Amino acid sequence: MFHTVICDTLGIKYPILQGAMSGVTDARFVAAVSNAGCLGVLATAYYRPEQIRDEIKRTRDLTDKPFAVNLVPMGPGFQKMAELSVSEGVTIATTGRGDPRTPVVKLLKEHGITVIPVVPTARHALRLEEEGADVIVASGCEAGGHVGKVSTLPLVPQVVDAVKLPVVAAGGFADARGFVAALAMGAAGVQIGTRFIATDESTAPPELKELILNSSEEQTTVSTIFTGKPVRVILNEAMREYMEAEAGGASEEELRAMKPRNSVDGGYRQGSTMAAVQVCGMINDIVSVKELVDGIIAGAGEICSKIHSLSTGSAVRADSSR
Ligand SMILES: Cc1cc2nc3c(=O)[nH]c(=O)nc-3n(C[C@H](O)[C@H](O)[C@H](O)COP(=O)(O)O)c2cc1C
Repeated sequence: MFHTVICDTLGIKYPILQGAMSGVTDARFVAAVSNAGCLGVLATAYYRPEQIRDEIKRTRDLTDKPFAVNLVPMGPGFQKMAELSVSEGVTIATTGRGDPRTPVVKLLKEHGITVIPVVPTARHALRLEEEGADVIVASGCEAGGHVGKVSTLPLVPQVVDAVKLPVVAAGGFADARGFVAALAMGAAGVQIGTRFIATDESTAPPELKELILNSSEEQTTVSTIFTGKPVRVILNEAMREYMEAEAGGASEEELRAMKPRNSVDGGYRQGSTMAAVQVCGMINDIVSVKELVDGIIAGAGEICSKIHSLSTGSAVRADSSR
């Protein structure tokens, strides 16, 4: 069911990629995603090289299914991470926001690694296609973490039209409705981030899971204060106070003292915030990764039947309520 071209390319049962999420995931989580039939993606941004090696090994111990390693193209460590992936026999790599520079894509491809860059525009997608990427993730500005300027709905069809490669839609997907919408836009699958934080297996502290359950679609904002590039984070008290102070003309020193951390170290109401998205308002429960994935696939089947009924006219008689 819902077998698309990326299921063959990546060796997965369902066309769902888990977005790499630094700080709230680990090998156990990634293995759970892969075991549930999707592509688990190991985030590396907060790890030292020896930790990455350990996490890759631990993931392999916990699943015999494919998984990917995420490389974040920021700073000088990027090339080294790519080399480490090669030496550890990684078979699939996703790259986060930022430019996965040509030499790195080339290095990964030379070692037979399937390369999946996350891009914010059709222009970037075309360039990465030329450089040899295998699958493109088109990520709209609704997404958690680093974001571009175009939202998912206009972005995905334009990337689909621009490239020949399979396109995966990301940014704002959390349930069966989004999954079907992505396929309707011509995507070969979805990448889901934030929804996976509210699972039993995510390593996010209970306080963060609770915050996601209690946040609405309005409680996010985009800020460059964390990495110098736009990052979508939860708009909590700390973030709101910082932005008010900034708008009120606070000095650099004052702002530095009150700058929230984009971290998982707790204190979400006071000192820190965390990348998360506009889908928070539709996340209402904490479930296991398998329950989440099975629910999306089952729900998508029901939605497709309903749409089919609509297209044949039978739904008007059967269900005129929605
Ligand atoms: C807490 C958090 C941490 C993230 N860390 C990374 C990361 O390390 N590397 C990366 O490529 N993307 C990262 N992302 C982006 C996700 O991989 C994914 O593309 C995004 O969350 C998709 O949007 P969604 O949250 O609306 O599903 C992060 C997102 C969140 C919410």
